[in-house]
Amino acid sequence: MRNKLLIASILGGLIASGYALTFSAPVANAGGLKNAKIYPKNTNKKAIKKDMKALSKALGVKCDYCHTMKALDKDSEMKEKARDMMRMMKAANKTLKAQGFEKSITCKTCHNGQKIPKY
Ligand code: HEC
Ligand code: HEC
Repeated sequence: MRNKLLIASILGGLIASGYALTFSAPVANAGGLKNAKIYPKNTNKKAIKKDMKALSKALGVKCDYCHTMKALDKDSEMKEKARDMMRMMKAANKTLKAQGFEKSITCKTCHNGQKIPKY
């Protein structure tokens, strides 16, 4: 059931807006994350990597913009900024949903391939 929800949320997001972060859709029996403050700790590694690829593309960066590649769980200043953005986005999408809007925002909505959004 949860797997189905995750797939539905990924596909829904892909169709609606390029991609969807899978913040609140953990997959049972997954490998588990070592240092997750936003994603549920039991998030499937494949699912988070898919999200990470999408958000890297949205910002026009490679993984090492935020990560030490030898230890992806290690924190960095940029990772903390990204977490703040995830919190902001999650809150905005919750508000949109509560107000009856169908679409949600993603990193790409604002960043559109830029590290710092250009308006
Ligand atoms: C803009 C910053 C940013 C970029 C770029 C990025 N990540 Fe992340 N990544 C994060 C943040 C923030 C977290 C922690 C999420 C949390 O706290 O729940 C994370 C967590 C992870 C984790 C989980 C680590 C653990 O066990 O706790 C993996 C694996 C990962 N990223 C892989 C990647 C890969 C692979 C790429 C490139 C394709 C990438 N990331 C690009 C910000 C980034
Ligand atoms: C509502 C618009 C919006 C959304 C959605 C958004 N961002 Fe941002 N982001 C910004 C703005 C604006 C800044 C510049 C903030 C500043 O430094 O003044 C920024 C800055 C950042 C930075 C710091 C860049 C740097 O070099 O200092 C990171 C990292 C980042 N965003 C990651 C993300 C990620 C990852 C997502 C998706 C989870 C995301 N953002 C979603 C608007 C947004």
